[in-house]
Order: sequence, then C-alpha cells, then structure tokens
Amino acid sequence: MSPVSVSTNRVVPGPQEPEEKTYHPSDGLFTDAHVPDFDAYLALYKKSTEEPEEFWADVAQEFYWKKPPSGPMLQYNFDVNKGNIYIKFMEGAKTNICYNILDRNVHERNLGEKVAYYWEGNSPDHHQNITYNQLLRNVCRCANALKLLGVKKGDRVAIYLPMIPELVYTMLACARIGAVHSIVFAGFSSESLCERIMDAQCNILVTADGVYRGDKLINLKKIASEALERCKESMASCVQKCVVVKHHAFRTNTDASNKLQVGQTVKLYGLLTVYDGFLAGKNLNRANVKFSYIQHLNGVLHTVTGYMLYTSLTFKYVFDYHHDDVYWCTADIGWITGHSYITYGPLANGATSVLFEGVPVYPHVGRLWEIIEKYGVSKFYTAPTAIRLLMKYGREPLQRYDLSSLCVLGTVGEPINPEAWLWYYDVVGQQRCPVIDTFWQTETGGHVLTPLPAATPLKPGSATCPFFGVQPAILNEHGEELEGEAEGYLVFRKPWPGIMRGVYGNQERFESTYFRKFPGFYVTGDGCRRDQDGYYWITGRIDDMLNVSGHLLSTAEVEAALTEHPSVAEAAVVSQPHAVKGECLYCFVTLKDHKEFNRTLMEELKRKVREKIGPIATPDFIQNAPGLPKTRSGKIMRRVLRQIARNEKDLGDLSTLADPKVVEVLFSQRCEAAA
Ligand code: PRX
Repeated sequence: MSPVSVSTNRVVPGPQEPEEKTYHPSDGLFTDAHVPDFDAYLALYKKSTEEPEEFWADVAQEFYWKKPPSGPMLQYNFDVNKGNIYIKFMEGAKTNICYNILDRNVHERNLGEKVAYYWEGNSPDHHQNITYNQLLRNVCRCANALKLLGVKKGDRVAIYLPMIPELVYTMLACARIGAVHSIVFAGFSSESLCERIMDAQCNILVTADGVYRGDKLINLKKIASEALERCKESMASCVQKCVVVKHHAFRTNTDASNKLQVGQTVKLYGLLTVYDGFLAGKNLNRANVKFSYIQHLNGVLHTVTGYMLYTSLTFKYVFDYHHDDVYWCTADIGWITGHSYITYGPLANGATSVLFEGVPVYPHVGRLWEIIEKYGVSKFYTAPTAIRLLMKYGREPLQRYDLSSLCVLGTVGEPINPEAWLWYYDVVGQQRCPVIDTFWQTETGGHVLTPLPAATPLKPGSATCPFFGVQPAILNEHGEELEGEAEGYLVFRKPWPGIMRGVYGNQERFESTYFRKFPGFYVTGDGCRRDQDGYYWITGRIDDMLNVSGHLLSTAEVEAALTEHPSVAEAAVVSQPHAVKGECLYCFVTLKDHKEFNRTLMEELKRKVREKIGPIATPDFIQNAPGLPKTRSGKIMRRVLRQIARNEKDLGDLSTLADPKVVEVLFSQRCEAAA
C-alpha cells in the first residue's frame, strides 16, 4: 500500500500563497542522498511494510550481536480484547548498546580520532572537543565509578544533570553496565525530581553542584538535596548514594562555587565526588547485558534492540547523515529528543554533534547562528518555539554570520505554524535547505511521520509521510477507519522497532493510555488531518495534555499543584495559544469560602506550580472562577473553558451544562492580559 499519492513533478511556483505551495529540495545539495527521490522512498517504504522481517534484518546486520534473535523479528498484540498488550522485537537477541555506539566506532570503524561532540558551554568561553576515543574512555571511567558505588545490572540511576559532557558519560555508563537510566530534565523542581526518583525506585542520584542558564545561577545541589529530603520523608527512600559532579564553570571560579555551599544536606546521603581524579580502569568486556531506560512523563519504558536500530536508522535517513556532517540538535538530553537524537542515534552513526549547554539568546540573540558558523553545522534540529522566539529579533542577527554550511533544517515538538516554517526556510536556510518537520513522541522512540531531505516534496506545516515500517491510520470517534481526505484520531496499526515497551511497573496504565480507546491500534492522543495527497497534518493534542514550548504537561498535574494551595477549592487548566511557546496555561481557580482573589494569591499560585513542576509550567493566566462549567454528572466541561479562555463566544451545544449562568460570569471575568 502506498502511503501517499503525491505528485513527484516539480511544482512551478504559481499564484498561490507561500504557505500553500509545495517546496522541493534544492538541486545539487543532495547528490549522494541515501533516498534520492520520492520513488526511492516509496520503494523502501513498501519493503518495510510488506517484508518487515527482511527489512529490519538488513538494518540489524550492521550492529554487533552477542547472540542473534531466537524467534521472529517482531511479535505483538495491539488488541486488548485478545489478551495483554505486548511488543517484542528481536526476542532473545543479546547485545550492548554502549558497545554498538562507542567501541564499534573506535575498534571496528576507525573513528577514534573523530570528534563525537563539540561541547559548547553556557558561556562562549567554555568549550571542549571530545573525540570518540575520549568519549569511550570517559564512559568507561564513569562506568567503573558507578560500579564502585555498587551500581549493577538492572539498578535504576536517576540523572539530574545539565547539558555537560558528564551527562552523556553517565547515561552511557549506565547503558554499559546494564543499569536503567532515568534522566530528569535539570529544570525540574525538587518535588518533580523526588517523584521521578520514587517512580523508578532509583538507587543512586547523579547531579551537579550548579549550573548557569544564561546569567541565572541554578543551585542544582540544593534542589537535589531537597528532593532527597522529600524522598526520605515519604518513608520510601530508595536512594543510597548521591554523586555530585563539579561543573566546569565552578572548577576555577570559587566565588560562584562558594555560593552553592549554603545549607547543603547532601552529605547525609553519603556524598561522593567520584569524577575528579578517578583513575581509568579496565574497559568492560562486550557485556551481554540488556539495557533499558525510563523516560518520563508517564514512566515510558524503552529497551535496547529496537530502540537502537530505530534511532540509528531514523537519524541516518531523516537527516540524510554523511560522515563529514556536523549535526546539532538544540534539545536537552532530559527529554526524549535528546536521548534519541543527541546521544543514541548520532553516536550509532559515528556522527559529530554539537552539545550545547546554553540558551538561544545568551549572551546575545545571535548565539545559535554564531555556533552554526563556528562549527560549520550542516544539519540543524530545533523546536518551533525556538524558531518563533528568534523570529522576533528579525534577520539582522543572522546576517552577521555565515550560515552557508547548513543543508538540512529539522523541527520537532509541536505543530509548526506555516509562518515559522517559512521564516526557517527563507531566512535561516536561505531557501536552500529542506525543512524537515518530524512528528513523534516519547512513546514512539523516534520519528514516525517525517519528510526525507532529498525525497519528499514539502508543505509548510505538514509532517508529510510515514517513516519506514510505520503504518498510520485516522479513526473517527467510533473507532471507524477513515479513508482518503479525513480528520480524526491519529493511530498506528502495527509496531515499529522504536515503540515503547510499556510503562515502568504499570501494565494497566500502558494498556489504558494507549490501547483501550481503539482496540487494535496504538493511540497517539493527537488529532490529525490527511489531505488529498495523503500528507499528514497534526492538529494538536486531543487528550488532557498541554504542549508548552514543545514539552508535554498534563493538565491534571498542574491542577493538583494549584489545589494544594490552602485557599483553592478547585482548579481547571486549559491550553491557550501563545505566540512563542505554542501553548501556555490558562488556569481557572475556585476559592474556598471567604478567601480573597488578589495579586498576592496569584503570585503564590504561580510559585506553587513552579515549585511542584518547574518553571516551564508557570501559568500565564489565572482567572478567579466562582464556579466551573460542569455537566450534570459533575464533569468539568473543558471545551467550554477553552472557549472562554480564547474569548470564543459561539459555544455550540450547552445542553449538558448543569448551570449555564456560570459561563456568563466566567466570560465577564476573563483575563485579558497575562498574570
Ligand atoms: O502532540 C505531539 C507533539 O508533541 C507530542 C509528543 O511530546 P513528547 O512525548 O514530549 O515528545 C516531544 C518530542 C518528540 C506529540 O504527541 N509533537 C511532537 N512533534 C510534533 C508534534 N506535533 C506536531 N508536529 C510535530 N512535528
């Protein structure tokens, strides 16, 4: 079955609006592309879906296997009515992901002297080149250090580190030992960190003394100490050791590092500083261990073989990777994008990447462009929210730098609005580079809908076509499959190697979140439209999730934080479009009797959410809601709240609403400006 019916003829620019045109990759840029044209894509896609065993066996051949699989490549059940949901890929195969992405590059592919990472710190004065030889050595040192601390196969290690080389060393050290890493984004609060440590029952926490994000000093050690205190209070503390990495910025700058000493309690947990001065030990053998990692939100569990093959293959094709490329993904490794496309995918290909610790506008608004020029970046991958932020500063900051090395521009995290797409294409890519809008999720492990640079005609705002092995479908509310042009729920009918294997310790949540709504399909939770050419357009989340600056947040989590405040009786949170963040939080709060809604309360509520979840979840709008629109059965009607937040007066059918007067009151008290 062909996924699309797109014309492969070049479109002659006609009188259409720019966002309605189809864009074709530039001639000459991709003379040696892995997938040179759309027909080649269709042929490979056909093979991947009609002969998946052969297709994935070919991909697997490149890797080292201690033991080949004992059964078929893929076994699964997606239908809750037929028993437990499961996905097995290359069952019985044994390997080590760390061996495949490091030792293999050094010992079998002769890439030891090649730079694996150009590390660029928050301050432009801090940078370091790390070759594959050095990376392997440091990962081994780190693995030995962790082993010395008692970490063994199957143990869970919480990693709460900023974007420094030690983050990569630690995660790969876990992979080498066969321990599970649970990386917590270093912007999360102590409470979120505690929750994640407890969820995964981590035995050890690795953090850093602190970090500068832009000009702001963040005392990670203090946050980590508070998190461990919380874990201890809950009587279920599992962390026995805490390792604190000394950040590069504080190795010589004693002033700053002194600031971090105030009120520390980490010592209570047997603090050890093992990185500095720990001597290199023996390399581990090609351990026959399995590795897995847990990615939050939701304890999404990935395992070695399928994830390794899938991130490696998507990286190669989606960025049309070649050995002389310099690739840069601006995500944080704390999120899935960083796991798949800063660490595992690029390293599996022996790529050279930029590892950036800073923020896009520090110390000046041209920082990203400066880095592209500095390292000659050819493949660049960022988020729509970053593009929209940088658009605000116009063309001038880009004109100061030579961006001619660029040839592929990627985006991920949320739907990219055509205006941002066109700016990225025109101003950053100088109409030379295809914009690769990659749709995927933590759960999918890697890209699932995406163009390929030389092959796919592009439409601004569309993630275009399925990747190899991925079979999308669109369903209506009743679970009926829609053909041709259609809009509805985006689902997948079969697994691909990178898909999640479960929710850590919670099969019930795994099944109910992703498989129960439409038996026989994996449900993404996203809405989607398919156009007349078979192109897919993501229309946004249809469950109770928000996408703020490319990060998924659950409305329930924010509501729980708000209702913890002693003055709040009830809270409901909806998303609101935001020019830079994509979506932001609009909160309705109902106060307890005799409590007053004022600015102090708003500040306290914002602080509460920041403390509980982290700064990315800070509400933009908080509205006093004397009552909330509810159905007669007491269910909050979020659709109505969303329309109030957006000032959309045409509310449609309100017959299920218990008390229609509430709506009028809420409209009259709408927040016009951000809190
Ligand atoms: O809603 C979709 C949106 O981000 C969600 C996945 O978020 P997360 O698991 O945090 O992973 C983010 C990085 C992969 C999706 O369900 N999303 C991600 N990429 C796109 C997107 N929406 C539209 N277009 C995209 N390219």
